[in-house]
Amino acid sequence: MTQQTLLILGASGDLTARLLLPGLGALLALEGRKNLSLVGAGTDDWDDDTWRTRVRESFGRDDKAADSAVPEGDAAHSAVANEARYLRADVTDKNDLKHLLDACQGEVVIFFALPPSVTAKACAAFREIGLPDRTRLVLEKPFGVDEKTAQSLNALLVQLVPETQIHRVDHFLGKSTVLNILGLRFANRIFEPVLNNQHVESVDIVFDEDLGLESRAGYYDGAGALVDMIQSHLLQILAMLAMDAPPSLDAHEFRDSKAQVLRATHVWGDDARASSRRARYTAGTIGDRQLPSYADESGVDASRGTETLAEIVLAVDTWRWAGVPFRLRSGKALGGRRKEAVVTFKPAPWVPTGLTGPDRPDRLRILFSPDRLELDVDINGPGDPFVLDPATLGTDFGPGELPPYGEVLRGVLEDDPTLSVRGDTAEVCWRIVQPVLDAWRAGEVPLQEYPAGSTGPSDSLLGG
Ligand code: BG6
Repeated sequence: MTQQTLLILGASGDLTARLLLPGLGALLALEGRKNLSLVGAGTDDWDDDTWRTRVRESFGRDDKAADSAVPEGDAAHSAVANEARYLRADVTDKNDLKHLLDACQGEVVIFFALPPSVTAKACAAFREIGLPDRTRLVLEKPFGVDEKTAQSLNALLVQLVPETQIHRVDHFLGKSTVLNILGLRFANRIFEPVLNNQHVESVDIVFDEDLGLESRAGYYDGAGALVDMIQSHLLQILAMLAMDAPPSLDAHEFRDSKAQVLRATHVWGDDARASSRRARYTAGTIGDRQLPSYADESGVDASRGTETLAEIVLAVDTWRWAGVPFRLRSGKALGGRRKEAVVTFKPAPWVPTGLTGPDRPDRLRILFSPDRLELDVDINGPGDPFVLDPATLGTDFGPGELPPYGEVLRGVLEDDPTLSVRGDTAEVCWRIVQPVLDAWRAGEVPLQEYPAGSTGPSDSLLGG
């Protein structure tokens, strides 16, 4: 096995501790990976020991990693943690970057756990010094701040390494329930023939969280719900639900299919004012948590008018989907956690006279948390056989063998970009939301308010 070094820029940051290292820990527990070394770099004045302690703590943090803390898992964790190195560095300085590269052995995988503007500067500095062959670059969202900045970052990145070695991470693509959409759609005969505008009324993709800001003002106040969740994660789910079947799941075919359907996607009626809503939470209670108004959260600049809940309606202009609204919504500090994609079917063309009762639309629900699949149908039983009753067929998904960051990292370390967002797709996702961002900046869509712990603004664009 070729020796590899995972070089984390931004090693002392929150993302590294909360998501990246736990994902790596789970991967090591599952697969060992004796060929991997870890180098962390950051501006904090840490030494190797501080970093190793952070690595060990984070390896133990993920539930799945902890569950799988079998002796082999422990050995793999210790092997990587005990040898991990930390170098203090200004990652925008080419001399510091050179030292970092010198500290790496074998193939280098550079993870930019940094704000986008710092990532762009670090890439510009790498361009001056050049990168070893086969280096892989791993970037976090948001990828740029609009289509133009995404284009310039892409242009810079391909001067460093070929596109197939660039991994734009969207951890939703590493979620097992999101990946299960492929099996559900393409490994069965019964769903695919009805997933089209002949039979489908609407598709809702909803990610309502009960979490508030969680001390992330520095990032979130500049992003907001539309960019944080919809421009990235929910558009990836839309692509998985709406794309045509790829002939194989190799990176080329899979990413082509996603890109094609996203290119056909745009704001419903090209009317961002009518097809979007934005709101932010005011003070409220969720369970036993008391949340202040978003505007009063520490680090928030209320005058920016950042939304904590966003809704948009999109059209997918293909033979299969023309005329079917795709309604995407995500919000923070909501009373109910609703995380699901719901396909609502059109009514049956005719229900035989004599069969009475509530005629509820058939719905296919893919629930992301808890991971579950449900199919709502109407049946005539139990009880009076001529009266319709609603029934739900459901199954729980077991957990994936890896948490999302572990899954995504596996692809990166194995040089497989299937689960990474391709450059053209990153740009197209900005193009899709840009009219909404423009309308919001121009004040054409009012910023509504909802109390924390509620279900959000009353005039949601989503159906029932
Ligand atoms: C992140 C967003 O990418 O995804 C967060 O920045 C959000 O705001 C999170 O809470 C949701 O993902 P998960 O995997 O924690 O459900």
